[in-house]
Amino acid sequence: MRSAKSITVIGTGYVGMACAISLSEQGFVVTGHDSNSERILALQQGVAPYKEDDLEEALAEQLRVGRLSFTTNVFPAVHAADAIIICVNTPTSQSGHADLRDLDTVVAQLQQCDLSDHVFVAVRSTVPPGTSDGVARALQGRAHVVMTPEFLREGHALSDTRNPSRNIIGAESVELAGRYARMLKLDDAPTVLTTRVNAELAKLAANSFLAMKITFANEVANLTEAFGGDARDVLQGIGLDSRIGSAFLQPGIGFGGPCFTKDLKSYRAVAEQRQTASELVCATLAANAHQPLRVVDKLEQELGGLRGALIGVWGLTFKAGTDDVRYSLAQDIIDELGTRGAQVRVYDPKAVRAPLPQFVQRLDSALEAARADALLVLTEWPEFAMVDVAKVAVALRRHVVVDGRNLLDGQRYADEGVRYIGVGIKYLPIARPVPVQSIIETVRNVEYAV
Ligand code: UGA
Repeated sequence: MRSAKSITVIGTGYVGMACAISLSEQGFVVTGHDSNSERILALQQGVAPYKEDDLEEALAEQLRVGRLSFTTNVFPAVHAADAIIICVNTPTSQSGHADLRDLDTVVAQLQQCDLSDHVFVAVRSTVPPGTSDGVARALQGRAHVVMTPEFLREGHALSDTRNPSRNIIGAESVELAGRYARMLKLDDAPTVLTTRVNAELAKLAANSFLAMKITFANEVANLTEAFGGDARDVLQGIGLDSRIGSAFLQPGIGFGGPCFTKDLKSYRAVAEQRQTASELVCATLAANAHQPLRVVDKLEQELGGLRGALIGVWGLTFKAGTDDVRYSLAQDIIDELGTRGAQVRVYDPKAVRAPLPQFVQRLDSALEAARADALLVLTEWPEFAMVDVAKVAVALRRHVVVDGRNLLDGQRYADEGVRYIGVGIKYLPIARPVPVQSIIETVRNVEYAV
């Protein structure tokens, strides 16, 4: 009987780790490779490189079962593999094009390696159209090169990989793409078998569309704000149309993180190269650059200036459920607060080691961070919504909350005398009517004084 297929996963970031663990869970023998020896040493001991849902438990289990191992030595790792899955980083370069140096290094190594006959080399990193065709040319027919983009979200990396919404597999032929799908048992989810270029474009376009949808929600929320309406109702009214859907219509400070901005820039760069328009993508990038400044402007307006003000900030990560602060707009917003002369006290439950500028003090609790003139919410951590509203109201010297995530119960804050400004939502404390008796007293006092 043929033993279990062997898969080598190159790169142990979010994508590589989720891919390696879920393949091992399915019964494949998996070798994870990374050139970072410290990370490999930690992984061999079951220490995950970042915080993710149940990553560490799943890693420990697969190491215990013995189907998953890690190495820094690429040559033996790929020698007998049935498939090599490349999950290296492809960040943005200065020009906006994807920086493919890590991918090029891996391909150069594969050119030097002995590869099994009929081995599949799958590119899973997000790359510009044409890149995996280039990999196929570089390997000169020694491997079947496929392009299989991933669609996982940070914070849900393992569950998204175990239950993908769809698979897109680009290969030299539909027959080869189908063979790869069968080998990796990918038939549970809807699957598109296509060319490598189509698969690459589908990934860039999917992220661009999601980013555009968020940006549209922000634009609608800003317009609703100008009319004094409630953006939640407006956006719910849009999302209930099944042709539109309610996902990714949550307005906020703009989209951050290592994927969307990078992929939209890459889309724009390849469109420019091919001289086709990318007006929607360009407008999305431009609008997203303005959105974070809106919360700073609101604070400035509410406080009548930021110079010398002390601002409590809740949240540093680019979204809840991750410890990742890469390309987090919270950091840009904090920098802007500093530029406008404010001091900042910040609390984030997961980003406990993120470097902070000098004018920022890190606190150990949300309530401590709220001992300031005003509070600014930048990440939608559910625990922020649980903090005792009455205590926050007492802690806030100027009784202002600007909620960049529409996370808190604005009415409750207003009931405690706090001016609550969300994104397309506002609750202001109701001026309590002065009891009639006290008016009479005041008038009498005035009369006596006269
Ligand atoms: C994104 C995509 O959602 C994944 O499908 C894709 O695989 C991944 O990029 C990738 O290319 O690797 P991710 O960057 O982990 O995933 O995060 P998202 O959950 O998409 O959020 C991105 C940003 O948009 C965050 O700053 C988040 O707060 C913001 N966002 C999201 C909103 O402001 N509103 C929303 O309604 C949704």
